[in-house]
Amino acid sequence: MSAILRTNNRNATAPEIVIITGASAGLGRATARAFARRGARIGLIARGPDGLEGARRDVESSGGTALVLPADVASAAEVEAAAERAERELGPIDIWINNAMTSVFSPIAEMEPDEFKRVTEVTYLGVVYGTLSALRRMGFPSDEMTGHGFRAMARTLLAERLAMDEAVIEAQLAHAVKDALGRAYNRTEYLDQRLKMLQTWADYLDRLREGAEVIPIKQRRARHPSSRPLRTPVEQAER
Ligand SMILES: NC(=O)c1ccc[n+]([C@@H]2O[C@H](COP(=O)([O-])OP(=O)(O)OC[C@H]3O[C@@H](n4cnc5c(N)ncnc54)[C@H](OP(=O)(O)O)[C@@H]3O)[C@@H](O)[C@H]2O)c1
Repeated sequence: MSAILRTNNRNATAPEIVIITGASAGLGRATARAFARRGARIGLIARGPDGLEGARRDVESSGGTALVLPADVASAAEVEAAAERAERELGPIDIWINNAMTSVFSPIAEMEPDEFKRVTEVTYLGVVYGTLSALRRMGFPSDEMTGHGFRAMARTLLAERLAMDEAVIEAQLAHAVKDALGRAYNRTEYLDQRLKMLQTWADYLDRLREGAEVIPIKQRRARHPSSRPLRTPVEQAER
């Protein structure tokens, strides 16, 4: 599961506009209920009409507004059409949660190539398509920024500009942690520090948007008073 958040032009007093893929069951449906309790306006993406209808009822009885958006996340065109309809009917998307997945429970020797292909199309490409549709609407057209480019930029700025602890950055952004068990289960490592880091990141982007710290990169260390020297993780721990 991954999430893309709008950090610009966000009206903090308005209900959040949230899109959730795989919203008709499991974690996606539970996430929809949790946002509904905050009064959010939620676009529900999945394929099965019965599950979607159940999720719509859940959201409305929990205090949110629901828009059912039937779509297969393995289709870029369907994801884009759902995003477009969501913006038209709910408003500018604040949060996009890529949660839809499919898997095959089988001895590996019995798996068919088409099954691997389908899992990849839904669980990997579905995240790519969702991320691109979200970023386009949050001010990053695909010719300007890709999902991975966004990650690389955040990784660099968090470490070099905001002097965040690299272990915390990696826990937030990494594709995988080192050991196999950690990969499967360590979802909340450094959670408190990560929440603080995300707030710092959002505040930093707000300041950039206002133009307060936009300066030529080559001159940054020499001239800008708030430039900080790079610190190693050990130096950061000693601060
Ligand atoms: N369950 C676990 O043990 C576990 C552990 C770690 C992480 N996770 C992660 O948690 C997330 C959700 O898992 P879950 O267990 O809650 O799954 P789940 O109960 O099987 O629900 C999957 C959801 O995705 C939707 N979906 C499946 N294929 C889709 C497609 N092609 N297009 C659009 N929607 C699709 C399903 O609805 P339709 O079939 O109607 O489309 C359903 O709403 C996944 O990202 C998974 O990797 C789960």
